[in-house]
Amino acid sequence: MPTASVLVLDSGIGGLSVTREIRALCPYLHIDYLADLGAFPYGTKSGEEIISRMTTLVDRLGKSLSPSIIVVACNTASTVALDTIRLQTHIPVVGVVPAIKPAAAMSQTGVIGVLATEGTINRRYTHHLIQEFAHSRTVVLHGSSRLVQLAEQKLRNIPLPLDEIRQELMPLLKKAPDMDTVVLACTHFPLLKEEFTEAFPQIKFWVDSGLAIARRVEYLALMQGIKPESEEKPQPNRLYITSPTNQYHQSSLEPLLGDYDAEVIIV
Ligand code: DGL
Repeated sequence: MPTASVLVLDSGIGGLSVTREIRALCPYLHIDYLADLGAFPYGTKSGEEIISRMTTLVDRLGKSLSPSIIVVACNTASTVALDTIRLQTHIPVVGVVPAIKPAAAMSQTGVIGVLATEGTINRRYTHHLIQEFAHSRTVVLHGSSRLVQLAEQKLRNIPLPLDEIRQELMPLLKKAPDMDTVVLACTHFPLLKEEFTEAFPQIKFWVDSGLAIARRVEYLALMQGIKPESEEKPQPNRLYITSPTNQYHQSSLEPLLGDYDAEVIIV
């Protein structure tokens, strides 16, 4: 029987929005979550820097943890590094990319916003998705690295300024007042969904990729013979945090941990 573990990677804690969907659908899988805080944020880094970082992490953790499935729970990394990672490893790799296709189908006004990091907004991959699945829709793009920081802040229990969230989203809404659908094309953003909904109640659909990713993981696990009744109770989930030194302050992690065991790794 293969070890039923999934390695989930993101620049920070954003990928926990994907992990919670995987845990809800597949509680029999063990999760190793890597928050690459040593290189946070990804959204303002070049494609080359992200590819190099991801290949290093996948090589190192792929070897030490031997996961059955790898999930790149980051749109910024997936839209530039997926092909390279898939060539690098024999382990199935699931990427998280902007949910433009379902959003285009859902929108009733035909006006869609895409909220992501600057990196994802500028990627050729994102523009191909729009051409392929939303060419008959009006699509407005907006990149924000501040919202990524605010999501990190929220999970550390630091109070969020709702006014600032409203201001960060305003440029998107201003460009197209008829917008009824927004793609949350950064895994940090579903963590702010409550605040977004409160700030802009006129938006009907906030669309993310979390559930689709969990279904893909469930399918890939099944393909490897991993299913609920065939598995023993998994080990406690683990959260790995990268740091350039071992000077990481454990206390700054505590609000994040929940039922995860934590470990700092030097990368
Ligand atoms: N969570 C990431 C994403 O989905 C990136 C956040 C960042 O590091 O800028 O795009």
